[in-house]
Amino acid sequence: MTSHRFSALGPLTGAISVPGDKSISHRSLMFAGLAVGRSTIAGLLEGEDVLATAAAMRAFGAQIARNEDGTWTVDGVGVGSLLEPKTALDMGNSGTSTRLLMGLVASHAITATFVGDASLSGRPMKRVIDPLAMMGAGIEASAGGTLPLMLRGASPAVPITYRLPVASAQVKSAVLLAGLNTPGITRVIEPVPTRDHTERMLTGFGAKLEVGVENGETVIAIHGEADLKPMDVTVPGDPSSAAFFMVAASIVPGSDLTIRNVGLNPTRAGLLAVLRQMGADIEEVNPREVGGEPVADLRVRHAQLTGVDVDPAIAPSMIDEFPVLFVAAALAKGTTRTSGLDELRVKESDRLATMAAALTSVGARVEEHEDGLTIHGTGGEPLRGSANGRVKTMLDHRIAMSMAVAGLVSRDGVMVDDTAPINTSFPTFMPLLEEAAR
Ligand code: S3P
Repeated sequence: MTSHRFSALGPLTGAISVPGDKSISHRSLMFAGLAVGRSTIAGLLEGEDVLATAAAMRAFGAQIARNEDGTWTVDGVGVGSLLEPKTALDMGNSGTSTRLLMGLVASHAITATFVGDASLSGRPMKRVIDPLAMMGAGIEASAGGTLPLMLRGASPAVPITYRLPVASAQVKSAVLLAGLNTPGITRVIEPVPTRDHTERMLTGFGAKLEVGVENGETVIAIHGEADLKPMDVTVPGDPSSAAFFMVAASIVPGSDLTIRNVGLNPTRAGLLAVLRQMGADIEEVNPREVGGEPVADLRVRHAQLTGVDVDPAIAPSMIDEFPVLFVAAALAKGTTRTSGLDELRVKESDRLATMAAALTSVGARVEEHEDGLTIHGTGGEPLRGSANGRVKTMLDHRIAMSMAVAGLVSRDGVMVDDTAPINTSFPTFMPLLEEAAR
């Protein structure tokens, strides 16, 4: 455990670039690893979660190398030709690696064992086990449907039509990836839209994929036994990483910070909308397209935020941003109410309980409900901070970064118990924070 005290620094100014999008980075390695031929990836996030995906794709037979200029080269094995890994696949902290790769194995004639850290080993896998078992995969999971688990792929797998019982891009993607090597058409019905990177990117890699609307629900159909062709991918900056700096610059007086190259896919842009509703001053500069995704530079200036009632319908488009939104709410004027956030209880930690405890321990006024938090903000007054105690982050990178941001507007600073998990998604977070506050 590496603890660190985050204290009030100066205003955040200048311009920074956040690393590549985590969701897109995972998918670029997986899809390039399935294509026949050589792909290159620019802007790949080199965080531990994505490196776990790279290691797994190597174990499946793809050749993956980092070039001197920071780009990555992937020589794929081809859909249907995955090799059986010789040892267990260590997924570390990464739910995305686990769930998407389970989908991949499910329709190949191989067996793979998935293991992970304490956080990942407590997370529910039944949500992917159920549809993959319907497609014919054999799965032996630990009690409660968790890791470690062993998955025996079916060959041929059976195409299904699956209506998502939870709003989850990971479950959607697991079924679509299984569908890649399944004869016929595999369909996913999505009642609530979630991030659509899989759909966008698979189309780019040459898969036949149709997206339609039936009875107000999105239906995604993938044609199986696909041949993927290699592609050059440029990964845009991660809006979920930019989120910490969007909130930090909004709440630290005097800030005027530009965050370059932020992905603004509408299925990811919920935090921007909610912060603006709270009165944030965020300007989109130079909107453009990078790697098939909308991107802009964001100029964020300090503003006094006001509490709002967050519409639960917006939750899927900012699902990873709630911890840092709670920090913004703790400094806002008035009360912020959130609801419909049951999914936050099964992320890298129970993010409702962990953030309620963390914010309360640094002097914020927080009420925890079954499906959300109510936060009474200070109106801009600094939080007390944690003079002695350490804030518990429960192996959750986004809790650690959110509480680091809280420390910037606190009297005593905030002592985060363990900053090591930040490396899973945002290895440059600490140096960028120092750079912006210099
Ligand atoms: C992700 C989907 C989301 C998100 C996670 C990344 C993805 O998870 O929380 O960080 O890349 O598909 P769920 O599908 O569980 O909502």
